[in-house]
Amino acid sequence: LDQVQISKHLNDEEKYQEILKTLPSLLVKEDNLISNLANLTALLKQLFIKISWVGFYLYDGDKLFLAPFQGKVACTNINIGKGVCGTSALLKKTVIVEDVNSFPGHIACDAESRSEIVIPVMKKDGSLFGVLDIDSTDYSAFNTVDQLYLEKMIKYLVDEIL
Ligand code: SME
Repeated sequence: LDQVQISKHLNDEEKYQEILKTLPSLLVKEDNLISNLANLTALLKQLFIKISWVGFYLYDGDKLFLAPFQGKVACTNINIGKGVCGTSALLKKTVIVEDVNSFPGHIACDAESRSEIVIPVMKKDGSLFGVLDIDSTDYSAFNTVDQLYLEKMIKYLVDEIL
């Protein structure tokens, strides 16, 4: 993984552009899916200081369950429609929350979490695979630049790996 050398001094947009270039070497279809998801969370965590927690919750046909992540221990199960993750999974849309205290039903795994972005992961047939949940201890840490590039990243994952 020597190819994965992205400077921490780039701005967010530049980091995301480098991440997109790196994906073909980071995500390998022949590798186990869990390994690929785990490395994706590690790459985001190691590049963005603003990220305090990043991880996948995957759908088992009933609920979302905790999958590869980086950060503090977290809630293991989230019902569809509950919290930010469950809302994103239900709506099948990215949800950005600038202040988690103002989001009704927010699930506080980490009391220090202040803002978050959740990107849904839909399989090619349109069914729910899971969500990518990213948290920050800063308010309003995520915006439409994060959304644009994270959605591109997830699209690559779905198109090439899932
Ligand atoms: N914030 C999430 C819960 C999961 S943790 O933050 C890791 C939510 O309300 O969906």
